[in-house]
Amino acid sequence: WVLSVTAQTPTNIAVIKYWGKRDEELILPINDSISVTLDPGHLCTTTSVAVSPAFTHDRIWLNGKEVSLSGGRFQNCLREIRSRATDYEDEKRGIMITKKDWEKLRVHIVSYNNFPTAAGLASSAAGLACLVFSLAKLMNVKEDHSQLSAIARQGSGSACRSLYGGFVKWIMGKEDNGSDSIAVQLADENHWDDLVIIIAVVSSKQKETSSTSGMRDTVETSELIKHRAKEVVPKRIKEMEAAIAKRDFPSFARLACADSNQFHAVCLDTLPPIFYMNDTSHRIISCVEKWNRHEGSPQVAYTFDAGPNAVLISKDRKTAALLLQRLLFQFPPQSDADLNSYVIGDKTI
Ligand code: DP6
Repeated sequence: WVLSVTAQTPTNIAVIKYWGKRDEELILPINDSISVTLDPGHLCTTTSVAVSPAFTHDRIWLNGKEVSLSGGRFQNCLREIRSRATDYEDEKRGIMITKKDWEKLRVHIVSYNNFPTAAGLASSAAGLACLVFSLAKLMNVKEDHSQLSAIARQGSGSACRSLYGGFVKWIMGKEDNGSDSIAVQLADENHWDDLVIIIAVVSSKQKETSSTSGMRDTVETSELIKHRAKEVVPKRIKEMEAAIAKRDFPSFARLACADSNQFHAVCLDTLPPIFYMNDTSHRIISCVEKWNRHEGSPQVAYTFDAGPNAVLISKDRKTAALLLQRLLFQFPPQSDADLNSYVIGDKTI
């Protein structure tokens, strides 16, 4: 027999960024962060996990290619889920799996992203969240979403926020064992559904500096990161929570743009400096800033993660249509575009 579960998880985009760890092994951050989870279907990971007495090894395929499972983050998540597995019974098929059996049974994992992997579009977030969620369902794990978020966190920090829809806060926590470093939902997906997110894919190439090594270098070498984590982010988290609660777009946009810019400033303050944005990214920022200034109040917010791709959040559908028109005019795409996955060709990279 084979028992399988398939799940789909959207990625999340941080509007107050996580950058820097206080514990590398457990993935504990140096500041809280807030993100918005995209609607299901767009930029998501689909994962199938299967278990069978016929399987001899744990195996994983990512986007059609088998990758090694030995050691590392996948293994940490798998171990954590296995240790919480509970008895499972399917009378019809005559399957009975006890807690002890789960320890011995091997799993096969197949995961597919419908967007560029490791190009700064938080692919690891959707991937690890989906892995943890589907394994938890398969192994009849009874833990709630926030406890599962603490497991996903050990796969990739940003993954803990993808266990929830809507607006999500990852609380950094204080405990050394990470038990209080969990994600909580600030508002569900219906709370502010006027917002439209457009992603301008400037490049789908793999980024040169991974988030993991980039943030390690930042913590070791940047002075600015200390100021950011201690003084700036705690204040911004409070303001962002209030802006989300009130659906106050001008404050939301001001905070999101400022936080993205400070994150990239901190990257520049790292030794050696990290450049995630490129000329096209900078031109998109100027375009949005000019438009917002011209309108007298923010219409669109921008935020960039560890790559050159722009995530543009417009206050409503009408603004999104105007924004797309403007982007298509100023940055003609080379591939098919729609409202949710807009592609900007960039010949320089
Ligand atoms: C810039 O979660 O990819 O997207 O915990 O080392 O796996 P690891 O890093 P990761 O870092 C994401 C950084 C970011 C900001 C954010 O998502 O908050």
